[in-house]
Amino acid sequence: MERYRTPDWSSILLPTVNHAEKSVIREMFQRLRSGDIISFAGGMPDVSMFPYREIEAATDQIFSDHSHRVTAFNYGPTEGYMPLRQWIVGHMRSLGLILEPDNILITSGGQQALDLACRSMLRPRDSVIVAQPTYLGALQILRTYGARIVSVATDENGPLPKEFEAALCENVKFVYLVSDFSNPTGLSISSERRQLLIELARLKGIPIVDDAAYQQLRYAGDNISPMISIDQRITCDNDREPLENGGVIHIGTFSKTMMPGLRVGWMAAPKPYLNKLIPLKQATDLHSSLLNQMITYNVIKEIFDDHVAALCKAYGEKRDCMISAMHDNIPSQVEFTTPEGGMFVWVTLPKGSDAIKLLDLSMKQAKVAFIPGAPFYANAEDGMRYCRFSFSGVSNEEIFEGIKRLGELLTDVLSGSRRGEN
Ligand SMILES: Cc1ncc(COP(=O)(O)O)c(C=O)c1O
Repeated sequence: MERYRTPDWSSILLPTVNHAEKSVIREMFQRLRSGDIISFAGGMPDVSMFPYREIEAATDQIFSDHSHRVTAFNYGPTEGYMPLRQWIVGHMRSLGLILEPDNILITSGGQQALDLACRSMLRPRDSVIVAQPTYLGALQILRTYGARIVSVATDENGPLPKEFEAALCENVKFVYLVSDFSNPTGLSISSERRQLLIELARLKGIPIVDDAAYQQLRYAGDNISPMISIDQRITCDNDREPLENGGVIHIGTFSKTMMPGLRVGWMAAPKPYLNKLIPLKQATDLHSSLLNQMITYNVIKEIFDDHVAALCKAYGEKRDCMISAMHDNIPSQVEFTTPEGGMFVWVTLPKGSDAIKLLDLSMKQAKVAFIPGAPFYANAEDGMRYCRFSFSGVSNEEIFEGIKRLGELLTDVLSGSRRGEN
């Protein structure tokens, strides 16, 4: 009996895995499973908008053709399904970027593209610059690689240039930004600020990883060129050269425009970098599901523009509902963003407020859920008075009702007439 020993996981696991924090969000989602709570918590798509019929037709098309069937179920190229890569090249051309399929690597969602970027660049204690606040999934990945996270404060136009410049030092491996309709604030980096940040990073030779997960979901305001397109204008001598050099790595995904369950995303990057990344992707999972890539391709080639237009209309209305409900119900000491796209409204409570306590009260008494700001900050303490509200996955009626209930709660809490006892 003595011959067998149970592994001592605490000494076997890496410190970064061993000390992974309990997530406020995971706990909240467990509580959400029970009950009649209106949830603005998850950044969920509107599931009624998934193009089920087109997905079914796209799948039938693959099954009814022998060579497509074989391709879908066999091993395939690590870089991804060529027609899909070509489609992305065309899509990105419409955003002002000249690429070739060799500039595109298909990944299992944008999340894997970010993970591969980290895996290719980070040793423990290397620094990465992020905007404050930033996507909590990125913070999670950075922590698993033992990165030192350097947060740069932002205003309504993006990271502050002076602070950004000061943060760019030798130990910084890359900058991570969500330049369009950021998760969690819903705000975008302005065109002028993008140019300035690219300029500053280029002076130090530090790459920018631009996570453009929400880029296509614009409901108001003017389009802004993606960072990689701006960078290309500096890098290439004419507007026909495909991207060979440059300092911006672009992450895209079909999760927000189509359906996240298929897990299809991409990285667009200069070829010398991408060529080094392909063996890493190969070592990770050989390639992303070919069946999913083929279904995605068959669907987007038929409906992408129309579908995105329909999503923008529906999400734009939900955004308007949330903003107007907040104007009508939320006490004036509480501020909120008015995003031009994406899925989120970012709420700032008065100084000294604790959004985690408010969430507890809100779930118990108002039956409304949101995400407190702390997990979006490298230093959770800095995010205590903020909350993220997502409008994309709820109906207009739920938005009006949920924000009304929350407004009543906030009015009572801020006037001191309601506490967390019951
Ligand atoms: C900023 C950002 N990047 C990446 C992702 C992950 O996207 P994907 O489903 O493509 O992995 C999300 C998902 O919420 C996100 O908000």
